[in-house]
Amino acid sequence: MAPVSRITVIGTGYLGATHAACMAELGYEVLGVDVDPDKAAMLQAGTLPFYEPGLEDLLAPHLASGRLRFTTSAEEAAAFGDVHFLCVGTPQRKGEFAADTSYLDAAVDALAPHLDRPCLVVGKSTVPVGTAARLATRIAERAPVGEAAELAWNPEFLREGHAIGDTLHPDRLVVGVRSETAEATLREVYAPLIAEGVPFLVTDFATSELVKVSANAFLSTKISFINAMAEVCEAAGADVTQLSQALSYDPRIGGQFLNAGLGFGGGCLPKDIRAFMARAGELGVDQALTFLREVDAINMRRRFKMVDLARDACGGGFLGRRVAVLGAAFKPESDDIRDSPALNVAAQVQLQGGDVTVYDPKAVDNARKMYPGLAYADSAFGAAAGAHVVLHLTEWREFREIDPAALGEVVAERRVVDGRNALDADRWRAAGWTYRALGRP
Ligand code: UDX
Repeated sequence: MAPVSRITVIGTGYLGATHAACMAELGYEVLGVDVDPDKAAMLQAGTLPFYEPGLEDLLAPHLASGRLRFTTSAEEAAAFGDVHFLCVGTPQRKGEFAADTSYLDAAVDALAPHLDRPCLVVGKSTVPVGTAARLATRIAERAPVGEAAELAWNPEFLREGHAIGDTLHPDRLVVGVRSETAEATLREVYAPLIAEGVPFLVTDFATSELVKVSANAFLSTKISFINAMAEVCEAAGADVTQLSQALSYDPRIGGQFLNAGLGFGGGCLPKDIRAFMARAGELGVDQALTFLREVDAINMRRRFKMVDLARDACGGGFLGRRVAVLGAAFKPESDDIRDSPALNVAAQVQLQGGDVTVYDPKAVDNARKMYPGLAYADSAFGAAAGAHVVLHLTEWREFREIDPAALGEVVAERRVVDGRNALDADRWRAAGWTYRALGRP
């Protein structure tokens, strides 16, 4: 293959839009491809269809210089790129645990018939192990250039809210390859990062696919571990935040992903552990991952516990009670509401008769589309007006910085339940609030 100068990024959601902007930042000419003409047009105009800190600012100069463009044409992409990154989604299938890889198949089927010179197609999506091998055959069968259109797998570990930093300064690069040419091409693409000391690990296809799903399984397990400890703390009258802090000093445990609270949500962890269990079942090793059922169950139980605490705070029932919900996004610095624990709790409280008003700094528009029956406010104070209880469900900085004395002036009752163990309990209590939290006495 000739030296890499032109890169296409197929699928321009969180992952693809970030990857496209970051590849342009590294100096490549980049063409972003999406089947949705509205999304491609928005991105070409410099507007993101979602919120990600810093990403619009990163796109702007590269769009202005023409180094980065967006299109809907797979044919144009095939003609343009030396390396084609596949960044389409792999959501959970309706009514099943397994992942839906049909968007990957569709992307390959659109691109491959136009691949008439040697190139590298690089999968970045999170997939059931075995997908890369299947797609490699699919590409070679459909490409005029045959096996000279090679596949590699290069899982992406970025977190929403930190997408740019995680892409330009990743903890590691993992590439699953079948040839030295593919390895050399990816070393070249990522040369600026490798030069900065980012570890570059070369594996087979299956290992590279498994690194990603096992990383997410581990992170989910760590969160559910501390949330299981929170359940025990609640029964024993102990404080999970102190427990977690004490555990964190053991370097074998570490403090990250040890925050007890409402648990994990979003477009990745929940569906990835379920898809991993489904794939293990297909491979005949379902027993190896049965513990992930518990991880999932512990995570879901936290949402019910939160509703219980909120109901207690309302005197045993929600009827006739106003409930303020602070947070709708599945985590701060994101407008993503996929499998959001906050909205799940808000909807449960409403179903049980509560008069719920939600506020989130970025996610209200998305929340309104998915939960049109909830009421929304355009500030924390608006949501809290007349409330009998305030539920803190997504730990935005804005909520930590609220003056509890001032908020106390607008509510009906000074009762707060902290679902993220992120508010300063002493400060809220000093301002006359009854403070309750998950995993604490
Ligand atoms: C995750 C992985 O971190 C990332 O590597 C992968 O590429 C995609 O999935 P993301 O979903 O963006 O990233 O968010 P992350 O920061 O991992 O948080 C996931 C969820 O766990 C959030 O709902 C968060 O609130 C929750 N969480 C996180 C906790 O409940 N406790 C913690 O200690 C940490």
